[in-house]
Amino acid sequence: MMKKNLSLLSAAVLLLAGGLYAGRAAAEYAVTADEDTKLAESMEHMEDALRVLRKSLRSEDQTPTSLEQILVLQQTVSAAKVESPLMAESQPAEKRPAFVLSFRKEMIGMSRMLLDLEELVLDEKLEEAGELLKKIRKLEDGGHERFTEDG
Ligand code: HEM
Repeated sequence: MMKKNLSLLSAAVLLLAGGLYAGRAAAEYAVTADEDTKLAESMEHMEDALRVLRKSLRSEDQTPTSLEQILVLQQTVSAAKVESPLMAESQPAEKRPAFVLSFRKEMIGMSRMLLDLEELVLDEKLEEAGELLKKIRKLEDGGHERFTEDG
């Protein structure tokens, strides 16, 4: 009798634990589904840094700020390039690796331009730096057209 009660008790404990676990997993999923992807967060940081840079590059006095923001961009792009765009999930399985690879290569291209930008600012060539920044900002349209659902 005692044994039977004990096994009923363990069954109840197991059921309760299972229920709690499932509930928590569902709650976590709901939060994740509502949050930005890591890539989207990196993109927002890029947007902020580019906005500051557009102004700071106009004046030599603000070169420390420019260099700081260029570093932020380089680090953000490095973090972003190893992510996979959400749109990869809707690609046919056989095309997915090539899709993710071409995203990564596009981001590598951006990193390269950001290194050139850093060099121009260190050499005090702010006019050329401003021209290069325009090209970097133009990558946004093409990138979103190719790698996001709503282009
Ligand atoms: C150059 C300047 C760029 C800026 C300022 C920028 C900014 C943004 C912003 C604000 C978002 C929306 C984030 C959100 O949903 O809250 C976004 C999303 C996205 N961007 Fe960019 N972007 C840039 C370049 C690029 C490039 C070059 C690529 C591709 C190589 C790219 C790929 C993406 C992707 C794939 C998403 C969707 C996020 C996801 O799939 O998880 N972006 N970007």
